[in-house]
Amino acid sequence: MVLRMNESHPRISKAVIPAAGLGTRFLPATKATPKEMLPVVDKPAIQYVVEEAVGAGLSDVLMITGRNKRPLEDHFDRNYELEEALIKKGDQERLAKVQESSDLATMHYVRQGDPRGLGHAVLCAAPHVGNEPFAVLLGDDLIDPRDPLLARMVEVQEREGGSVVALMEVEPSQIHLYGCAAVEPTGDADVVKVTNLVEKPDPAEAPSNYAVIGRYVLDASVFGILRETEPGRGGEIQLTDALQKLAADESVGGPVHGVVFKGRRYDTGDRGDYLRAIVRLACEREDLGPDFRNWLRGYVTEEMQGL
Ligand code: UTP
Repeated sequence: MVLRMNESHPRISKAVIPAAGLGTRFLPATKATPKEMLPVVDKPAIQYVVEEAVGAGLSDVLMITGRNKRPLEDHFDRNYELEEALIKKGDQERLAKVQESSDLATMHYVRQGDPRGLGHAVLCAAPHVGNEPFAVLLGDDLIDPRDPLLARMVEVQEREGGSVVALMEVEPSQIHLYGCAAVEPTGDADVVKVTNLVEKPDPAEAPSNYAVIGRYVLDASVFGILRETEPGRGGEIQLTDALQKLAADESVGGPVHGVVFKGRRYDTGDRGDYLRAIVRLACEREDLGPDFRNWLRGYVTEEMQGL
């Protein structure tokens, strides 16, 4: 299939980051701190996500926040007291680190109130987004900065119109943890057409092993569908249910495509994945990596000897 140019399509400029979940898998750390603020090496997980949006050309960022989310707003704001102290000390390196997050993007915030599901969180973005296509990046889903995904999704959406989801092949036994897509191939090896979506299916009923991961580029018609979507699994308004309606009827908001991602991705809301993200990213760091790798090698050798 040849991707067609969609000349009349507006350039995507807005990113929406839902970060209003309760983070119960990470208690007690998330009792008073949003899980998106947990550090991955020395940066909060959410900063990687905002950097990813900016890296894909989206510098207007709307964060959907909730209870306990004040630290998120503070992190992307100036901290004059800290800046003054570092200026007095002449510590330019740390000053740059403090200022980095506040200079990153134009940040906007809206409160979700009751966390009534991801679909409901996305719906809270409707007044800010208006009638343009927009990106959604889940605040606890970290795509390794070395494996760009969102820029490719934006490219596909701008050529095809409609909506684009990110897909990743998972072990069939794991598909019940994700939204799952039924797909058809296209002329592009990394792009598929999505014909159906099912939220967290039983492995026996899953239409494929393509899992939907936390990056989306959506047509604004999704808002109208979300307004009419009844709470689904877990009593929450599911984004997958709305996307399923888009995939089933192209006349509503255009086609739904999937970009198949083969890079590194971490669910930082899951404790095991969170630890893996830290180890991998720490190993790659120029400042910390060499020492940390040496230590890790020794630690693994000791562990192997103990087996
Ligand atoms: P999760 O499924 O990880 O839920 O949400 P959660 O409540 O954050 O975490 P656990 O499962 O209790 O540990 C996926 C994404 O959707 C956002 C979350 O912040 C996360 O980025 N979300 C979820 C909302 O913004 N609002 C909601 O009502 C639900």
